[in-house]
Amino acid sequence: MKPDVLVAVTVFPEILDKLARHFEVTANQDDVPWTPAELTQQLQGMQGAFTTGTVRIDARLLAACPQLKICANMAVGYNNFDLDAMTAAGVLATNTPDVLTETTADFGFALLMATARRITESEHFLRAGQWGRWRYDLFAGAEVHGSTLGILGMGRIGQGIAKRGAHGFGMKVIYHNRSRLDPATEAACGARWVSKAELLKTCDHLVLVLPYSADSHHCIGAAELAQMKPTATLVNIARGGIVDDVALAAALRAGTIAAAGLDVFEGEPTVHPDLLACHNVVLTPHIASATLTTRRAMAHLAADNLIGFLVHGQPLTPLNPQVLAV
Ligand code: DGY
Repeated sequence: MKPDVLVAVTVFPEILDKLARHFEVTANQDDVPWTPAELTQQLQGMQGAFTTGTVRIDARLLAACPQLKICANMAVGYNNFDLDAMTAAGVLATNTPDVLTETTADFGFALLMATARRITESEHFLRAGQWGRWRYDLFAGAEVHGSTLGILGMGRIGQGIAKRGAHGFGMKVIYHNRSRLDPATEAACGARWVSKAELLKTCDHLVLVLPYSADSHHCIGAAELAQMKPTATLVNIARGGIVDDVALAAALRAGTIAAAGLDVFEGEPTVHPDLLACHNVVLTPHIASATLTTRRAMAHLAADNLIGFLVHGQPLTPLNPQVLAV
């Protein structure tokens, strides 16, 4: 008998075909937004779940779904998982590292450029018919090449952004991370470790690429923004909740920093009205990894984790491998 698997979100049809070769598949192809109670109901009797960052897996759900053995997230971030609760319940968690690194770094850099050079703000102005004539200071933004790029969180994606900045744009790259990179990796990234205080004070452009956790919640708030240069820009491609959106909107209004580029939001898909009211912020709907090639690679890796574990006993990218030892 094939194991039962729930695909909790819409996904490429080819992924459903691939899973159906190994599993009895129940799919949410209409992308119905399930409440936690509905998700729990849908998961009854399922051994596996294909999830994304929008699907919360916590202790309450796990207690009500004793047959569940694996949740395969189609995302590198996994703050939608209560990993401790999953480990305690003996449920394997997997994510999709590596396959999205370069695409996400490309987007981080694109958002930095759009923010610094005021691309969306000036396009809105043009479309609104407000462009009367060339002016010496029309949408004058911040220099990118040769400026100082600060990176908070220096995992694979942070390193990709550092390389683009250092080697492509001649930027001085500084970073802060709990653990320092080894000297060879620092050299390859053209990056230098600094304290968080120095990072905030020194950089011209700050990019956030750290994972969300209780420790990183609102780690950029009013106090941190006040330490940045009034000409600085801030880009968040990590997770909503890392930045205090209300404090950021206040800083953008007051000119504490010059501009921001945000791909993620606390409470997304709702965006705080204070941010929507700011002209000096570029807003995108959590699309940093969104090329078809990369999203396909993420979906295949999540599916391969389900197949690897439920069929062969060997997942590809486990987050809590201690579950396998039991
Ligand atoms: C990730 O992979 O974590 C992206 O944010 C998509 O959810």
